[in-house]
Amino acid sequence: MKNPTLQIEKIVDETKDCRSFFFESEKLAQAQPGQFFMVWVPGVDEFPLAASYTSDSDGTFGITVEAVGDGTRALYDSKIGDHIGIRGPYGNGFEITGKNILLVCGGRGTIPLALLAENAAKKEIKIDAILGARSADKLLFKDRLEKATNVSIATDDGSAGVKGFVTGIADEMLGKNKYDCVYTCGPEIMMFKLLAICEKNNVPMQASLERYMKCGIGICGSCACGSVRICKKNVMASSELKELSAFGTEKLDKAGRRVKA
Ligand SMILES: Cc1cc2nc3c(=O)[nH]c(=O)nc-3n(C[C@H](O)[C@H](O)[C@H](O)COP(=O)(O)OP(=O)(O)OC[C@H]3O[C@@H](n4cnc5c(N)ncnc54)[C@H](O)[C@@H]3O)c2cc1C
Ligand code: FES
Repeated sequence: MKNPTLQIEKIVDETKDCRSFFFESEKLAQAQPGQFFMVWVPGVDEFPLAASYTSDSDGTFGITVEAVGDGTRALYDSKIGDHIGIRGPYGNGFEITGKNILLVCGGRGTIPLALLAENAAKKEIKIDAILGARSADKLLFKDRLEKATNVSIATDDGSAGVKGFVTGIADEMLGKNKYDCVYTCGPEIMMFKLLAICEKNNVPMQASLERYMKCGIGICGSCACGSVRICKKNVMASSELKELSAFGTEKLDKAGRRVKA
C-alpha cells in the first residue's frame, strides 16, 4: 500500500527541544485529543506522535516532536515543503466527562493534554492543570494551558514553580478540591503514582500510555502491555489500568524484550 505524504506548511519552535509541524488534511484534522498518528519520515523511520493541534475550520493540524533518536531527529530537522507520511488518527481519544477536571502533564506528555484543554475550555468546563518538566526552559505549551486552564507549575530543579514533581501538587489539589476526572500523560512512573493518588481520593483517571509501536493498528504486538495492545487503546481509564499488571512495571523494547517500564 502506498503511504500518502503531506507537505509541511508551517514550523513553530515550542521550546529548545520541541518543534511543531503543521499540515493540511481535513480527515487528519478530525483527530481527537489523545489520538495519535504514525509518522513516516521517508528513508528514515516511522513512529507514533500525538495530535497536538487540530482545526475543524480550515483542515490544518499539527504534531509536536522532541528529537530523541534517528526518526524524531530527522523530522525535527525537516523544512517547510518537505513531505512526511502520516497515517491515522489511531487509538482512543480522551473522553471529556464532568464540569470540573484536572490535567496532570509531565514533559512531552503535555502534547495531547494541551489540545484536550482547548477542546474542554470550549465546553465551559472548569479546568485546573499541573504542568511539570525537568527545568523552566522545558515547560511545553505553558501559554496554551494558561489560556484555557488555571496552571500550577513544578520543575525538578526549581527553576520555575514548585521544586518537585507534579504528583506532589496533584496530591494537595485532589485533597482540597472535588474533581470529576483527572487526565494525564507523561512518564509512566508519574502516571502510576498519580493512579494511587486518584484512588485514595475516589476520582477516576484517564491516562495516555506510551509503548513501542510499529504497526499502530493492533497487528504486530510490539506495543503489548500485558494482554492489551496499547495502539488500539492508547487512552485507558483507571478501572482498566488497575487490572493491568504491566502498567508501571514492564514494557517491550525495540527488539521485543521485556524491560522495566
Ligand atoms: C502513542 C504515542 C504518542 C507519542 N507522542 C509523541 C509526541 O507527540 N511527541 C514526541 O516527541 N514523542 C511522542 N512519542 C514518543 C515517540 O514516538 C518516540 O520518541 C519515537 O518513537 C522515538 O523514535 P526515534 O526513531 O527518534 O528514536 P529511537 O532510536 O527509536 O529511540 C531513541 C530513544 O527513545 C526511546 N523510545 C523510542 N520509542 C519510544 C516510545 N514509544 N516511548 C518511549 N521511549 C521511546 C528509545 O528507548 C531510545 O532511548 C509518542 C509515543 C507514543 C507511543
Ligand atoms: S503497534 Fe503493532 S500491535 Fe500495537
